[in-house]
Amino acid sequence: MHTLEHLQALAVELIESERYLNEPKSLFEPIDYAMRQGGKRLRPLLVLIAADMFDEDVSKARYAAAAVEILHNFTLLHDDIMDNSPLRRGKPTVYKQFGNNQAILSGDAMFALAMQYGLKTESYAANAIANVLSQASIDVCRGQALDMDFEQRDNVTIEAYIEMVRLKTSVLLGCSLKMGAIIARTEQANIAALSDFGEFIGIAFQIKDDMLDCWSKVEDFGKVKGKDIADKKKTFLYLKALETADGDMRNRLLSLYNDDSAEQNEKISRVIEIYERLNIKSIAQNVVEDYTKRAMESLERVSATEESKKNLIIFANKLLIREK
Ligand code: IPE
Ligand code: IPE
Ligand code: MG
Ligand code: MG
Ligand code: MG
Repeated sequence: MHTLEHLQALAVELIESERYLNEPKSLFEPIDYAMRQGGKRLRPLLVLIAADMFDEDVSKARYAAAAVEILHNFTLLHDDIMDNSPLRRGKPTVYKQFGNNQAILSGDAMFALAMQYGLKTESYAANAIANVLSQASIDVCRGQALDMDFEQRDNVTIEAYIEMVRLKTSVLLGCSLKMGAIIARTEQANIAALSDFGEFIGIAFQIKDDMLDCWSKVEDFGKVKGKDIADKKKTFLYLKALETADGDMRNRLLSLYNDDSAEQNEKISRVIEIYERLNIKSIAQNVVEDYTKRAMESLERVSATEESKKNLIIFANKLLIREK
Protein backbone atom coordinates (compact mmCIF):
# COMPACT_ATOMS: atom_id res chain seq x y z
CA MET A 1 0.00 0.00 0.00
CA HIS A 2 1.15 3.55 -0.76
CA THR A 3 0.89 6.58 1.49
CA LEU A 4 -1.72 9.23 0.81
CA GLU A 5 1.05 11.75 0.07
CA HIS A 6 2.51 9.43 -2.54
CA LEU A 7 -0.84 8.90 -4.27
CA GLN A 8 -1.58 12.61 -4.06
CA ALA A 9 1.71 13.45 -5.78
CA LEU A 10 0.96 10.83 -8.41
CA ALA A 11 -2.51 12.27 -9.05
CA VAL A 12 -1.09 15.75 -9.54
CA GLU A 13 1.76 14.50 -11.69
CA LEU A 14 -0.35 12.44 -14.02
CA ILE A 15 -2.63 15.40 -14.76
CA GLU A 16 0.16 17.92 -15.10
CA SER A 17 2.45 15.82 -17.26
CA GLU A 18 -0.27 15.34 -19.85
CA ARG A 19 -0.25 17.34 -23.09
CA TYR A 20 -3.54 19.09 -23.81
CA LEU A 21 -2.55 21.52 -26.58
CA ASN A 22 -3.41 20.71 -30.16
CA GLU A 23 -4.83 22.43 -33.24
CA PRO A 24 -6.78 24.61 -33.52
CA LYS A 25 -5.60 26.68 -30.57
CA SER A 26 -9.05 28.18 -30.10
CA LEU A 27 -10.31 24.74 -29.11
CA PHE A 28 -7.38 23.42 -27.11
CA GLU A 29 -6.04 26.50 -25.31
CA PRO A 30 -9.07 26.69 -23.02
CA ILE A 31 -8.63 22.98 -22.23
CA ASP A 32 -4.99 23.46 -21.38
CA TYR A 33 -5.86 26.54 -19.32
CA ALA A 34 -8.49 24.62 -17.33
CA MET A 35 -6.33 21.57 -16.76
CA ARG A 36 -3.33 23.62 -15.58
CA GLN A 37 -5.16 25.83 -13.10
CA GLY A 38 -4.45 23.62 -10.14
CA GLY A 39 -7.49 22.26 -8.45
CA LYS A 40 -7.39 19.73 -5.68
CA ARG A 41 -7.31 16.66 -7.97
CA LEU A 42 -9.56 14.81 -5.54
CA ARG A 43 -11.21 12.59 -8.11
CA PRO A 44 -8.03 11.12 -9.64
CA LEU A 45 -6.76 10.69 -6.11
CA LEU A 46 -9.86 8.64 -5.25
CA VAL A 47 -9.29 6.45 -8.31
CA LEU A 48 -5.74 5.77 -7.17
CA ILE A 49 -6.67 5.20 -3.51
CA ALA A 50 -9.31 2.63 -4.45
CA ALA A 51 -7.01 0.84 -6.89
CA ASP A 52 -4.24 0.82 -4.30
CA MET A 53 -6.48 -0.88 -1.75
CA PHE A 54 -6.57 -4.07 -3.79
CA ASP A 55 -3.58 -3.97 -6.15
CA GLU A 56 -0.04 -2.71 -5.56
CA ASP A 57 0.27 -1.61 -9.21
CA VAL A 58 -1.71 1.65 -9.23
CA SER A 59 -0.32 2.65 -12.62
CA LYS A 60 -3.05 0.54 -14.25
CA ALA A 61 -5.51 3.16 -13.00
CA ARG A 62 -3.75 6.18 -14.47
CA TYR A 63 -5.97 6.58 -17.54
CA ALA A 64 -9.15 6.32 -15.51
CA ALA A 65 -7.70 8.88 -13.09
CA ALA A 66 -6.92 11.30 -15.92
CA ALA A 67 -10.33 10.63 -17.47
CA VAL A 68 -12.31 11.58 -14.38
CA GLU A 69 -10.35 14.80 -13.83
CA ILE A 70 -10.90 15.83 -17.46
CA LEU A 71 -14.58 14.98 -17.13
CA HIS A 72 -14.80 16.99 -13.88
CA ASN A 73 -13.15 20.00 -15.53
CA PHE A 74 -15.53 19.75 -18.47
CA THR A 75 -18.46 20.00 -16.04
CA LEU A 76 -16.84 23.07 -14.47
CA LEU A 77 -16.44 24.85 -17.82
CA HIS A 78 -20.16 24.55 -18.43
CA ASP A 79 -21.13 25.03 -14.77
CA ASP A 80 -19.39 28.40 -14.69
CA ILE A 81 -21.36 29.56 -17.71
CA MET A 82 -24.62 28.33 -16.16
CA ASP A 83 -23.81 29.92 -12.79
CA ASN A 84 -22.31 33.10 -14.24
CA SER A 85 -19.19 32.57 -12.14
CA PRO A 86 -16.25 34.82 -13.01
CA LEU A 87 -13.64 33.23 -10.76
CA ARG A 88 -12.38 29.70 -10.14
CA ARG A 89 -9.18 28.54 -8.45
CA GLY A 90 -8.40 32.23 -8.02
CA LYS A 91 -8.34 32.88 -11.78
CA PRO A 92 -10.83 34.03 -14.40
CA THR A 93 -13.10 31.16 -15.41
CA VAL A 94 -12.70 29.73 -18.90
CA TYR A 95 -15.72 31.54 -20.35
CA LYS A 96 -14.48 34.83 -18.86
CA GLN A 97 -11.05 34.30 -20.34
CA PHE A 98 -12.04 32.93 -23.76
CA GLY A 99 -15.75 33.66 -24.22
CA ASN A 100 -18.88 31.49 -23.98
CA ASN A 101 -18.62 29.83 -27.36
CA GLN A 102 -15.10 28.62 -26.82
CA ALA A 103 -15.89 27.41 -23.32
CA ILE A 104 -18.88 25.44 -24.58
CA LEU A 105 -16.99 23.84 -27.43
CA SER A 106 -13.86 23.06 -25.42
CA GLY A 107 -16.11 21.49 -22.77
CA ASP A 108 -17.69 19.28 -25.43
CA ALA A 109 -14.29 18.10 -26.62
CA MET A 110 -13.20 17.46 -23.02
CA PHE A 111 -16.14 15.15 -22.51
CA ALA A 112 -15.07 13.03 -25.47
CA LEU A 113 -11.43 13.26 -24.43
CA ALA A 114 -12.35 11.89 -21.02
CA MET A 115 -14.02 8.89 -22.65
CA GLN A 116 -10.95 8.31 -24.81
CA TYR A 117 -8.69 8.31 -21.75
CA GLY A 118 -10.99 5.88 -19.97
CA LEU A 119 -10.88 3.55 -22.95
CA LYS A 120 -7.09 3.44 -22.83
CA THR A 121 -7.43 1.32 -19.69
CA GLU A 122 -6.32 -2.30 -20.15
CA SER A 123 -8.89 -4.29 -22.10
CA TYR A 124 -10.19 -6.37 -19.16
CA ALA A 125 -11.62 -3.19 -17.60
CA ALA A 126 -12.00 -0.70 -20.48
CA ASN A 127 -15.60 -1.49 -21.23
CA ALA A 128 -16.67 -1.23 -17.61
CA ILE A 129 -14.79 2.07 -17.26
CA ALA A 130 -16.54 3.51 -20.32
CA ASN A 131 -19.88 2.49 -18.86
CA VAL A 132 -19.17 3.97 -15.45
CA LEU A 133 -17.89 7.24 -16.94
CA SER A 134 -20.79 7.68 -19.32
CA GLN A 135 -23.39 6.87 -16.65
CA ALA A 136 -21.76 9.35 -14.28
CA SER A 137 -21.82 11.99 -17.02
CA ILE A 138 -25.54 11.55 -17.53
CA ASP A 139 -26.12 11.71 -13.78
CA VAL A 140 -24.10 14.93 -13.42
CA CYS A 141 -26.22 16.48 -16.17
CA ARG A 142 -29.39 15.34 -14.40
CA GLY A 143 -28.14 16.95 -11.19
CA GLN A 144 -27.17 20.15 -12.96
CA ALA A 145 -30.60 20.32 -14.57
CA LEU A 146 -32.26 20.01 -11.15
CA ASP A 147 -29.87 22.61 -9.70
CA MET A 148 -31.00 25.10 -12.36
CA ASP A 149 -34.69 24.13 -12.13
CA PHE A 150 -34.54 24.74 -8.38
CA GLU A 151 -33.42 28.37 -8.92
CA GLN A 152 -36.95 29.09 -10.16
CA ARG A 153 -38.77 27.01 -7.56
CA ASP A 154 -39.99 27.92 -4.08
CA ASN A 155 -40.97 24.49 -2.84
CA VAL A 156 -37.65 22.62 -2.83
CA THR A 157 -37.31 20.20 0.07
CA ILE A 158 -34.05 19.22 1.74
CA GLU A 159 -34.70 15.71 0.49
CA ALA A 160 -34.90 16.97 -3.10
CA TYR A 161 -31.73 19.00 -2.52
CA ILE A 162 -29.87 15.89 -1.34
CA GLU A 163 -30.92 13.96 -4.44
CA MET A 164 -29.85 16.89 -6.66
CA VAL A 165 -26.44 16.98 -4.94
CA ARG A 166 -26.07 13.22 -5.10
CA LEU A 167 -26.41 13.53 -8.87
CA LYS A 168 -24.41 16.69 -9.58
CA THR A 169 -21.52 16.02 -7.20
CA SER A 170 -21.54 12.68 -5.40
CA VAL A 171 -21.88 10.38 -8.34
CA LEU A 172 -18.55 11.51 -9.78
CA LEU A 173 -16.75 10.80 -6.51
CA GLY A 174 -18.45 7.40 -6.34
CA CYS A 175 -17.50 6.80 -9.98
CA SER A 176 -13.85 7.56 -9.20
CA LEU A 177 -13.70 4.96 -6.43
CA LYS A 178 -15.66 2.48 -8.49
CA MET A 179 -13.22 2.76 -11.40
CA GLY A 180 -10.19 2.24 -9.18
CA ALA A 181 -11.83 -0.79 -7.60
CA ILE A 182 -12.83 -2.26 -10.96
CA ILE A 183 -9.30 -1.88 -12.32
CA ALA A 184 -7.90 -3.57 -9.21
CA ARG A 185 -10.32 -6.44 -9.84
CA THR A 186 -11.95 -6.56 -6.46
CA GLU A 187 -15.30 -8.25 -5.83
CA GLN A 188 -18.64 -6.64 -6.67
CA ALA A 189 -19.68 -6.07 -3.05
CA ASN A 190 -16.53 -4.03 -2.43
CA ILE A 191 -17.09 -1.96 -5.55
CA ALA A 192 -20.63 -1.19 -4.40
CA ALA A 193 -19.58 -0.31 -0.85
CA LEU A 194 -16.85 2.02 -2.11
CA SER A 195 -19.27 3.65 -4.49
CA ASP A 196 -21.58 4.27 -1.51
CA PHE A 197 -18.66 5.75 0.42
CA GLY A 198 -18.11 8.15 -2.49
CA GLU A 199 -21.75 9.13 -2.65
CA PHE A 200 -22.00 9.93 1.07
CA ILE A 201 -18.70 11.78 1.11
CA GLY A 202 -19.91 13.71 -1.96
CA ILE A 203 -23.01 14.98 -0.17
CA ALA A 204 -20.80 16.13 2.72
CA PHE A 205 -18.45 17.70 0.17
CA GLN A 206 -21.20 19.69 -1.55
CA ILE A 207 -22.76 20.94 1.70
CA LYS A 208 -19.27 22.10 2.67
CA ASP A 209 -18.98 23.79 -0.74
CA ASP A 210 -22.26 25.60 -0.02
CA MET A 211 -20.81 26.70 3.34
CA LEU A 212 -17.53 27.91 1.84
CA ASP A 213 -19.53 29.98 -0.64
CA CYS A 214 -20.57 32.11 2.39
CA TRP A 215 -17.75 31.65 4.89
CA SER A 216 -14.37 31.53 3.20
CA LYS A 217 -11.66 33.84 2.03
CA VAL A 218 -11.52 34.36 -1.72
CA GLU A 219 -7.74 33.74 -1.48
CA ASP A 220 -8.42 30.25 -0.10
CA PHE A 221 -11.59 29.18 -1.88
CA GLY A 222 -10.73 30.87 -5.19
CA LYS A 223 -14.37 31.60 -6.04
CA VAL A 224 -16.51 34.74 -5.68
CA LYS A 225 -18.20 34.96 -2.29
CA GLY A 226 -21.98 34.68 -2.05
CA LYS A 227 -22.47 33.58 -5.65
CA ASP A 228 -25.08 30.99 -4.63
CA ILE A 229 -27.15 33.72 -2.97
CA ALA A 230 -26.84 35.98 -6.01
CA ASP A 231 -27.96 33.05 -8.21
CA LYS A 232 -30.87 32.16 -5.85
CA LYS A 233 -29.46 28.66 -5.50
CA LYS A 234 -31.42 26.37 -3.26
CA THR A 235 -28.44 25.50 -1.11
CA PHE A 236 -28.51 23.46 2.06
CA LEU A 237 -28.00 26.69 4.02
CA TYR A 238 -30.98 28.44 2.50
CA LEU A 239 -33.33 25.47 2.82
CA LYS A 240 -32.25 24.83 6.40
CA ALA A 241 -32.67 28.51 7.26
CA LEU A 242 -36.23 28.49 5.89
CA GLU A 243 -36.96 25.38 7.93
CA THR A 244 -35.47 26.83 11.13
CA ALA A 245 -36.69 30.45 11.03
CA ASP A 246 -39.87 31.63 12.73
CA GLY A 247 -42.62 33.18 10.58
CA ASP A 248 -41.23 36.70 10.58
CA MET A 249 -37.66 35.80 9.82
CA ARG A 250 -38.76 33.26 7.24
CA ASN A 251 -40.75 35.90 5.35
CA ARG A 252 -37.84 38.30 5.48
CA LEU A 253 -35.46 35.69 4.10
CA LEU A 254 -37.89 34.69 1.36
CA SER A 255 -38.43 38.22 0.14
CA LEU A 256 -34.77 39.16 0.42
CA TYR A 257 -33.58 36.07 -1.45
CA ASN A 258 -36.04 36.66 -4.27
CA ASP A 259 -35.49 40.42 -4.49
CA ASP A 260 -33.92 41.08 -7.88
CA SER A 261 -33.70 44.83 -7.35
CA ALA A 262 -31.57 44.63 -4.18
CA GLU A 263 -27.93 45.64 -4.40
CA GLN A 264 -26.10 42.28 -4.68
CA ASN A 265 -23.38 42.73 -2.06
CA GLU A 266 -25.86 44.18 0.40
CA LYS A 267 -28.24 41.28 -0.22
CA ILE A 268 -25.47 38.71 0.22
CA SER A 269 -24.37 40.24 3.54
CA ARG A 270 -27.92 40.36 4.85
CA VAL A 271 -28.66 36.75 3.90
CA ILE A 272 -25.43 35.59 5.56
CA GLU A 273 -26.42 37.61 8.64
CA ILE A 274 -29.71 35.73 8.81
CA TYR A 275 -27.88 32.39 8.44
CA GLU A 276 -25.61 33.39 11.31
CA ARG A 277 -28.49 34.44 13.52
CA LEU A 278 -30.08 31.02 12.91
CA ASN A 279 -26.84 29.17 13.63
CA ILE A 280 -26.97 27.57 10.20
CA LYS A 281 -23.20 27.22 9.90
CA SER A 282 -22.89 24.83 12.80
CA ILE A 283 -26.08 22.96 11.84
CA ALA A 284 -24.60 22.46 8.37
CA GLN A 285 -21.25 21.33 9.78
CA ASN A 286 -23.09 18.73 11.87
CA VAL A 287 -24.82 17.43 8.78
CA VAL A 288 -21.47 17.32 6.96
CA GLU A 289 -20.13 15.22 9.84
CA ASP A 290 -23.19 13.01 9.76
CA TYR A 291 -22.75 12.18 6.06
CA THR A 292 -19.06 11.59 6.65
CA LYS A 293 -20.02 9.09 9.34
CA ARG A 294 -22.33 7.34 6.92
CA ALA A 295 -19.46 7.17 4.44
CA MET A 296 -17.30 5.55 7.10
CA GLU A 297 -20.01 2.96 7.72
CA SER A 298 -19.96 2.08 4.04
CA LEU A 299 -16.21 1.73 4.25
CA GLU A 300 -16.64 -0.77 7.08
CA ARG A 301 -18.56 -2.97 4.65
CA VAL A 302 -15.53 -3.23 2.38
CA SER A 303 -13.70 -6.48 2.97
CA ALA A 304 -10.10 -5.35 3.09
CA THR A 305 -7.52 -4.88 5.83
CA GLU A 306 -7.90 -2.00 8.26
CA GLU A 307 -4.52 -0.78 7.07
CA SER A 308 -5.71 -0.50 3.49
CA LYS A 309 -8.70 1.63 4.54
CA LYS A 310 -6.56 4.24 6.24
CA ASN A 311 -6.08 6.48 3.20
CA LEU A 312 -9.81 6.90 2.71
CA ILE A 313 -10.30 7.67 6.39
CA ILE A 314 -7.62 10.37 6.28
CA PHE A 315 -9.09 11.68 3.02
CA ALA A 316 -12.56 11.98 4.55
CA ASN A 317 -11.29 13.67 7.69
CA LYS A 318 -9.34 16.21 5.66
CA LEU A 319 -12.47 17.17 3.75
CA LEU A 320 -14.24 17.96 7.02
CA ILE A 321 -11.87 20.81 7.72
CA ARG A 322 -11.15 22.00 4.20
CA GLU A 323 -10.99 25.73 3.44
CA LYS A 324 -10.69 25.34 -0.33
C1 IPE B 1 -15.93 21.89 -7.47
O1 IPE B 1 -15.19 20.74 -7.22
C2 IPE B 1 -17.29 21.50 -7.87
C3 IPE B 1 -18.07 20.87 -6.79
C4 IPE B 1 -18.50 19.66 -6.89
C5 IPE B 1 -18.39 21.63 -5.60
P1 IPE B 1 -13.77 20.81 -6.51
O2 IPE B 1 -13.90 21.60 -5.24
O3 IPE B 1 -13.23 19.44 -6.39
O4 IPE B 1 -12.93 21.66 -7.54
P2 IPE B 1 -11.37 21.70 -7.84
O5 IPE B 1 -11.14 20.76 -8.96
O6 IPE B 1 -10.61 21.33 -6.61
O7 IPE B 1 -11.11 23.11 -8.25
C1 IPE C 1 -20.92 21.97 -8.76
O1 IPE C 1 -21.83 22.73 -8.10
C2 IPE C 1 -21.43 20.80 -9.50
C3 IPE C 1 -20.77 20.58 -10.80
C4 IPE C 1 -19.85 21.33 -11.32
C5 IPE C 1 -21.20 19.45 -11.55
P1 IPE C 1 -21.42 24.26 -7.84
O2 IPE C 1 -21.97 25.11 -8.91
O3 IPE C 1 -21.76 24.58 -6.43
O4 IPE C 1 -19.82 24.22 -7.97
P2 IPE C 1 -18.88 25.49 -7.85
O5 IPE C 1 -19.16 26.11 -6.50
O6 IPE C 1 -19.21 26.39 -8.98
O7 IPE C 1 -17.50 24.91 -7.92
MG1 MG D 1 -23.51 24.99 -10.29
MG1 MG E 1 -20.96 26.74 -9.92
MG1 MG F 1 -20.63 25.87 -5.15
